[in-house]
Amino acid sequence: MISNLNLTHKPVLIKSIMRLLDDTWKIEDWSEKVVVDATFGAGGYSNAFIGRGAKVFAFDQDKSIQKFVQDTRKIVSDRKSVDKFEFICDNFVNIDKYKQIENVDLVIFDLGMSSMQLDSEDRGFSFRFDDSPLDMDMSDSKLDDKSAEYILNNYTKKQLADAFFNYGGEKASYKIADSIIESRPLTTVADLKTAVQVVSKHPKSITRIFQAIRIEVNDEINNLWIALNNSVKILGKNGIVLVVDFHSVEDKYVKFFFKNNKELKPLFKKIMVPDDEEIRHNPRARSAKLRGAIMVNK
Ligand SMILES: C[S@@+](CC[C@H](N)C(=O)[O-])C[C@H]1O[C@@H](n2cnc3c(N)ncnc32)[C@H](O)[C@@H]1O
Repeated sequence: MISNLNLTHKPVLIKSIMRLLDDTWKIEDWSEKVVVDATFGAGGYSNAFIGRGAKVFAFDQDKSIQKFVQDTRKIVSDRKSVDKFEFICDNFVNIDKYKQIENVDLVIFDLGMSSMQLDSEDRGFSFRFDDSPLDMDMSDSKLDDKSAEYILNNYTKKQLADAFFNYGGEKASYKIADSIIESRPLTTVADLKTAVQVVSKHPKSITRIFQAIRIEVNDEINNLWIALNNSVKILGKNGIVLVVDFHSVEDKYVKFFFKNNKELKPLFKKIMVPDDEEIRHNPRARSAKLRGAIMVNK
C-alpha cells in the first residue's frame, strides 16, 4: 500500500541532465539516440528522453512500478512510436545481457529508492510506518531470505555490525548489533527502531541503520559496481554514462569507477548538485550528486 503523502517521484536533477546532454550532443532532435535508463522508477527520466525522440530501454527490478510503465507506454502509443520504448523488469547488473541493447549513446543510473518505495506503508523502507513488516527488498521478495527480517534475525553480531559501519557509517555499530540480537525476534519497523533507540540516542542512528540494512538486503554496492562496468560494454562511440547518487557509500564507488576506467574520460569538471530551488520543491533531492563520463575508446 502507498500512503497519500507523495504519490509519485520527482525526477532529480532532470533540468541539469537535459542541459548537459543538449550541450554535449548539440542537436534538437534525439531520434537517432539510444538511451538506457537503468532505474526507471516513475519514468521521469525515460519520459523526458522519449519526449525528445530518443529510443529508451528502461530497467527496474521493482514489479510494483507497472502503472508507471503503462503511463510511458501510453505516451509512446500517442506519439505513434511504440518501438521507442522497451521496459525490462530486471536487475541492472544484467544491462549487457540483452542482444538488442548495443551502441548506446547514454546509460543513466538514478540510484537508491523511489518516492513510491519510501512512501509505501508495507515494505519497510521508511521508519515512519511502525507496523510495517521488515522487508526492504526492492525486487518485491515479500519476506524471503533476502528480507531485512531475515538479516536482522539471522546474521551474526559481526555481520550486522560490519553492515551498519560499512553501509551506514554508524559508529555505535557493535552496540546496536548487540541490542538487535537481544531483541530477537524482530518483525516490525517499530521493533527495529526500539532496538536501536535503547542503545543510541543519536538522531541519525535510525536513518543510518535503515540505509545500511537496505543496502545489504539489495546487495546495492556489489550490483552498482558490476552494473557500472557492464554499462561500458554497451556504449557506442562517444557514449555517455551518468550517475545520480545520494550518499557517500555509493558515491565513493562511483567516483573511483570514473577515475580509474581507462575507456572513459570525465564529461564535466565539478560534480553537479541540485540548486536551492530544486531542493525547495523536492527536499529528497538535497543530497543528490551527478557524475558523468564519456567513452573515448571506440
Ligand atoms: C530513485 S528511483 C529512479 C527514479 C526515476 N529516475 C524517475 O525519474 O522516476 C530508483 C529506482 O531504481 C530501481 N533500482 C534500484 N536498484 C536497482 C537494480 N539493481 N536494478 C534495477 N532497478 C533498480 C528502484 O527499484 C527504483 O525504482
